Amino acid sequence: VQWTAEEKQLITGLWGKVNVAECGGEALARLLIVYPWTQRFFSDFGNLSSPTAIISNPKVRAHGKKVLTSFGEAIKNLDNLKGTYSKLSELHCDKLHVDPENFRLLGDILVIVLASHLGRDFTPVCQGAWQKLVGVVAHALAHKYH
Ligand code: HEM
Repeated sequence: VQWTAEEKQLITGLWGKVNVAECGGEALARLLIVYPWTQRFFSDFGNLSSPTAIISNPKVRAHGKKVLTSFGEAIKNLDNLKGTYSKLSELHCDKLHVDPENFRLLGDILVIVLASHLGRDFTPVCQGAWQKLVGVVAHALAHKYH
């Protein structure tokens, strides 16, 4: 994947305004609420019995933060995303057996969360760059699947 200087600027510029803990927690919580079948991967996270329970579940928040922090690694390594995510791809494939379609779902949800948190700063051009990023991350995470 090639990135223009403008895309890189849009991605890193917005990243500086993102509250990783809040947005990461909300993105994972929304994934579990909007696409309930994803809950089965997190059966040891305790109470996921309702939207309220999911949103206030500390394990969901902590894990969502971990996932979005990992996007920070992607942003530092935009020109080597496959390498950056090769270990994580193996983990999600061989150990966790997460269907890669779910990476796309989480990426789309992340875009929605960023839009709602950043409002006018999340311009259409900025959305374009982020949409590309979440797509490339999903692709890199699926790379080791066989
Ligand atoms: C674990 C990143 C999507 C399920 C992890 C970890 C990271 C991560 C950094 C921690 C790895 C470690 O502890 O060494 C990501 C990223 C995603 C993504 C960047 C971007 C799309 C998903 C999706 C699912 C999922 C969509 C399931 C629907 C899991 C599970 C774990 C995990 C079950 C282990 C949780 C635990 O018990 O600690 N992921 N993930 N991930 N991920 Fe993902």
